[in-house]
Amino acid sequence: MKILVINGPNLNMLGKRDRAVYGEKTLAEIDALVKKQGEDLAVEVMAFQSNHEGGLIDFIQEQSGSANGIIINPGALTHYGFSLRDALADTKLPIIEVHLSNIYAREEWRAKSMIAPIAKGHICGLGWRGYVAALQILTAELKGESV
Ligand code: DQA
Repeated sequence: MKILVINGPNLNMLGKRDRAVYGEKTLAEIDALVKKQGEDLAVEVMAFQSNHEGGLIDFIQEQSGSANGIIINPGALTHYGFSLRDALADTKLPIIEVHLSNIYAREEWRAKSMIAPIAKGHICGLGWRGYVAALQILTAELKGESV
């Protein structure tokens, strides 16, 4: 089983960027924790980050055919990324949207997600642990484990 773990614009700056909001871990540290969780669950995790919507779409188009699910933090593209949303919807894969911060407790424009309507579920405000939880939940669902 293979899960794509995708991060959008500015998430390469984690660890330096607004640590009070996004936490202290770097993206490399978060990816390592998610990959470790993948090993424990016997799931292959393929991590990718881009600051460009087109780069994210190219990756999704290239990799989704051999993947079983997607975990994505689209960064600010969450709020206006129509092309990204279309690319994700075209995969027909189960998608979990993750945000480090609570997008409902911040500026009003952050509370609207273009991705949420096509996602199976959405985790926000729980920091890096949201990615690990998303992998656990998506894997359990894909394996058909009972709730
Ligand atoms: C974010 C929330 C977005 O509003 C913001 O633009 C980000 C990060 C989060 O993880 O909390 O870049 O997706």
